[in-house]
Amino acid sequence: MQQNQPHSVLITGSTSGIGLAIAHCFARAGHHVMLHGLADGETARALLSEFSGYAGKQGFSSANIATEQGCAQLVADTREAIGNPSVLINNAGIQHTATAHEFPAEKWHQILAINLSASFFLCRDLLPAMRTAGWGRIINIASVHGLVASEQKSAYCAAKHGLVGLTKVLALENADRNITANAICPGWVETPLIQPQIENIAREQQLDMESARAELVGAKQPMARATRPDAIGELALYLCGEFASTITGAALPVDGGWSAQ
Ligand SMILES: NC(=O)c1ccc[n+]([C@@H]2O[C@H](COP(=O)([O-])OP(=O)(O)OC[C@H]3O[C@@H](n4cnc5c(N)ncnc54)[C@H](O)[C@@H]3O)[C@@H](O)[C@H]2O)c1
Repeated sequence: MQQNQPHSVLITGSTSGIGLAIAHCFARAGHHVMLHGLADGETARALLSEFSGYAGKQGFSSANIATEQGCAQLVADTREAIGNPSVLINNAGIQHTATAHEFPAEKWHQILAINLSASFFLCRDLLPAMRTAGWGRIINIASVHGLVASEQKSAYCAAKHGLVGLTKVLALENADRNITANAICPGWVETPLIQPQIENIAREQQLDMESARAELVGAKQPMARATRPDAIGELALYLCGEFASTITGAALPVDGGWSAQ
């Protein structure tokens, strides 16, 4: 990273899964991390205690980023807790599966708001300071569904394809200021987000959970194993390092060959 100094890193949706793993990777590397997600006070305290052994500062915000105001709240909470972030990792996301002709409007709006619009508002609010500083890193956790489609995921695919497009525009607009913007596009990752889909397969096909997991992952990925969340964290860390300074506007698949087909 710039001059090897610790950076202030905001990771949305870092109470569990990929976001939590990313937060540990950055904290382990000595950076200040802002944890965020929908969690009550007790869960937040337990989460912060997980990070107490790291050298950098930590903060937590439970701002609901489904609205523009919630995003502004998260920016304010972050600046107060760890200073102005020079690294923004848009990771918070939700999923709902149904065919387009049966998709509830409320779920459509929620998925677009959290998986796409929140990333836009946070980038918009944090870019001016990054541009003034002449250094910044934006990493959007998209999905293989930002590159290819699957049935039953109209809102999720629309949001993630949108996030990849947003990433490319940000890369172009900020190329002159030492700011990179990249999307990471995971296939299946072992997190709570995919649990309901495993349970559906187990129920529908009367399989045990292990067989249902293999069925879910193998149906799409030539490598029929899910990616570890910390593999996404290590890639995000690499994208903030010296050797990644000209990687920008990329959508990087981490998907066991899914999108190569
Ligand atoms: N798990 C996978 O297989 C997989 C694959 C590809 C992409 N992704 C993407 O990676 C990201 C993280 O996924 P995960 O599996 O770790 O999910 P997760 O369900 O474990 O965590 C989601 C996080 O988002 C937060 N969140 C959700 N709604 C919010 C809201 N309205 N306001 C604030 N925070 C909110 C939750 O509190 C939590 O911290 C998502 O964007 C997801 O689409 C996941």
